[in-house]
Amino acid sequence: MLENLPDRVSIYEVSPRDGLQNEKVTVPLGDKIRLIDALVAAGLKRIEVTSFVSPKWIPQLADADYLAAALDPVPGVTFSALCPNLVGLERAKAARVQEVAFFVSASETHNRKNVNKSVDASLAAFEGTVGPARDANIGVRGYVSTVWGCPYEGEIDVKRALVIAKRLLDMGCYQVSLGDTIGVGTPRQTKAILEMMLAEIPAEKIAMHMHDTRGTALANILVGLELGIRDFDSSVGGLGGCPYAPGAAGNCATEDLVFMLQGMGIDSGIDLERLVEAGRAAESIVGRKLPGKVHQSGVRSLRA
Ligand code: HMG
Ligand code: MG
Repeated sequence: MLENLPDRVSIYEVSPRDGLQNEKVTVPLGDKIRLIDALVAAGLKRIEVTSFVSPKWIPQLADADYLAAALDPVPGVTFSALCPNLVGLERAKAARVQEVAFFVSASETHNRKNVNKSVDASLAAFEGTVGPARDANIGVRGYVSTVWGCPYEGEIDVKRALVIAKRLLDMGCYQVSLGDTIGVGTPRQTKAILEMMLAEIPAEKIAMHMHDTRGTALANILVGLELGIRDFDSSVGGLGGCPYAPGAAGNCATEDLVFMLQGMGIDSGIDLERLVEAGRAAESIVGRKLPGKVHQSGVRSLRA
């Protein structure tokens, strides 16, 4: 237990996209920028700021073009955006984002509900999008959703998720983020999934995207750390969910992840006090209490 832990990991912050896409309120553009600025100030270097999907499907992020274009480049910081197809890529190019993230589900039903296409049709669309993205000097990341379970189909064949992950990497994604979209994963299952993936994909090409619906995200991340995963997605305050995965809570709270990492002597380059401030900004922006544990307890009171 607790072997093979690294000195350093990389955190990919998803709150402005995964978080805000699932809020009832549509947050004004200025507040979104305030949140992103606070995340940058806390030391986050990779931030998924918005989504170039259909504004009819995700009205909360309908201002994606304005938002991405309004962000001043920050040296050393990559702003990325979710992208479903060539229309999305054209928008990403016009807004000058540095990176896009393709997404496809391991579950046929979830994929159809999410993007109105079969898994094969999604992969074919991405196949035709990755070349133009790279020609425009835009990095491409991939997501595989519902790897730990699907809200419509239940258990998922992990081999199918592996095949999809490999296709995304083969077509030119620099990394694939494996999603527990509905937060049903438990540690033994995580070990089995990751061992299967790691038998065919190098660890540095895999990230984990663990929604914390049932409180098991950190336990699963710890398994990932031991197995050599060094890239983790998270969302400040635990903001978020997937609008096409009913009942799913937000991603692992960034503060909880950083608190755990710091306690184990693992550097993520993030200033926890400032991150807590970013979480407070997120809470005031969405006007509801956020579920993250460190967000609620604070950093010091736990240690006092
Ligand atoms: P569709 O209706 O099937 O699209 O939607 P279409 O290709 O038939 O086109 C219909 C209209 O939409 C056309 O316009 C297109 O131009 C337009 P019209 O001719 O009617 O005026 N259109 C677009 N407009 C703006 N941007 C675009 C775009 N594409 C087409 N990119 C589509 C297909 C994929 C667009 C739609 O289903 C969609 O936007 N879905 C949103 C899915 C989504 O954002 N889900 C949540 C994010 S995924 C997630 O949260 C999981 C993740 O976090 C990982 C995890 O947790 O596991 C990533
Ligand atoms: Mg997600």
